[in-house]
Order: sequence, then structure tokens, then C-alpha cells
Amino acid sequence: MATVIITGANRGLGLEMAKQYAANGWDVISTAREPEKAKELKAIDKVTVMHLDAADDASIEKFVAQLADRPVDLFINNAGIYGPTELDRDQWLDLFNVNVVGPVKLATALKDNVTKSADGKMVVISSQVGSIAENDSGNMMYYRTSKAAVNQAWHSLAQQWQDEGLTLAMLHPGWVQTDMGGANADLTPEESVEGMRAVIDGLSHDQNGKFYDYSGREIPW
Ligand SMILES: NC(=O)c1ccc[n+]([C@@H]2O[C@H](COP(=O)([O-])OP(=O)(O)OC[C@H]3O[C@@H](n4cnc5c(N)ncnc54)[C@H](OP(=O)(O)O)[C@@H]3O)[C@@H](O)[C@H]2O)c1
Repeated sequence: MATVIITGANRGLGLEMAKQYAANGWDVISTAREPEKAKELKAIDKVTVMHLDAADDASIEKFVAQLADRPVDLFINNAGIYGPTELDRDQWLDLFNVNVVGPVKLATALKDNVTKSADGKMVVISSQVGSIAENDSGNMMYYRTSKAAVNQAWHSLAQQWQDEGLTLAMLHPGWVQTDMGGANADLTPEESVEGMRAVIDGLSHDQNGKFYDYSGREIPW
């Protein structure tokens, strides 16, 4: 049975990913900052819920140590935060901690587990607003910088690990009805995750380091 790790799975897109991967026969290792409160996640059959705070190195180390040498076929770094809305140094750095440094620390710490899979993949849930080419409004500047940075980092890891049998990609989920996306967003979590699962399933090594949306459209940098 294939194994997937999904971070930030107690609500929003991560919760829907856990539901869909479990329903499709995957072994799901999901994470939450407060597993004891993740009732909907814990109610899904065949889903393990573990503690992880992406902004805390000790938490990342403990999480990865618990996996020992277990092979992991797919790592989805879904956890992410939005904001800030004003130029505040601490808040901007908090955003980078969760959206950039955490994902790169996790990818690095999980590399040995994912290389144990015959077809190991690592996907970061980024955002179209991280594209500089498609930025024609300048709004959401702080959030944009974090997604542009994680794209550059993920692309760099993809190049560094080019010969290690891994495939890395960045995915934009669309504008989705979650706490982050709000009720007026275009897509339901079900639609977005169905699309992203199809894109992930179809990823081959020649797509290593590329940036796609949930429909498979390649997004320019
Ligand atoms: N929704 C959209 O329209 C949209 C569009 C483009 C990209 N995205 C991206 O898609 C991903 C999922 O977004 P979403 O809409 O599902 O957001 P969401 O509903 O706000 O959920 C965010 C998830 O991330 C977790 N998280 C936050 N900080 C964390 C930390 N320090 N360590 C570990 N987990 C943490 C949250 O856990 P807690 O419950 O503990 O806070 C929650 O599980 C994010 O990376 C987001 O940037 C979303």
C-alpha cells in the first residue's frame, strides 16, 4: 500500500486530501498542530494523525524520527498561512517560517524516506500568486513573497536531487472554499483536491521542479 504524508490536515485542503487519499486505498500519515482537537481527521479510517508544527524545528525532528526508515511515496507540504496585511517585520518573518523554512526543513529531513519509494514525489502546495509573471495587481504582497520563495526553494531542491530518483513539484490548488480562501471562492475542496490528485498521479520525472495548477496548467514563474 502506498504511503502519503499530508501536513496541516485538520481542516481545509489538507483534511480533504486525507479523506480522498484514504478513500483511494493509501496509507495516510496526516499532521496537525493539535491532534487531540482534530476530530474530523481522526474519524477517517486508515488515517494516522501525528503532531507537527512547521515553525518548530524540535517538532519537525520528532515527527521525522517517529517515521524511522519507513518508505514514503508522496510527501505533500500543504500547511500554510496567509498574511500579514501590513508591513510588520515579525509577522512577515512568521509567514516565511511556516510557508518557506518549514517546508524546506521537512523536505530535507524526509528525503531518505521518500527516496526509499520506487516513485517518490514531494509536492508543496504553493499559490498562483507566487508567480511574478502573473502578478498584475501587487496586492497580497507579503503572502506572494512567501510563495515565490518556496517555489524557488522547491525548484532548487529538485535540481540538487535531480539524480536521486525523486520528483518534486509545486501546485496551486485554485481559489478554494476554506478558512483561508473564504466562502466566495471558485472551487470546493473536493474539486480542488480531485484535480491536484490527478496532477500528482500523472507527474513524471521530466516534470521535476515545475509549477502547475490543479487542472495541470503549467504556471510561469
Ligand atoms: N484556499 C485557497 O484558496 C488557497 C489558494 C492558494 C493556495 N492555498 C494554499 O493551500 C494550503 C492549504 O490552505 P487552506 O486553504 O486549506 O488553508 P486553511 O484552511 O487555513 O488551513 C491551513 C492548515 O495549515 C495548518 N497550519 C498553519 N500553521 C501551521 C504550522 N505552523 N504548522 C503546521 N500546520 C500549520 C493549519 O493548522 P491549524 O488549524 O492548527 O491552524 C491548517 O491545518 C496553504 O499552503 C495555502 O497557502 C490555498
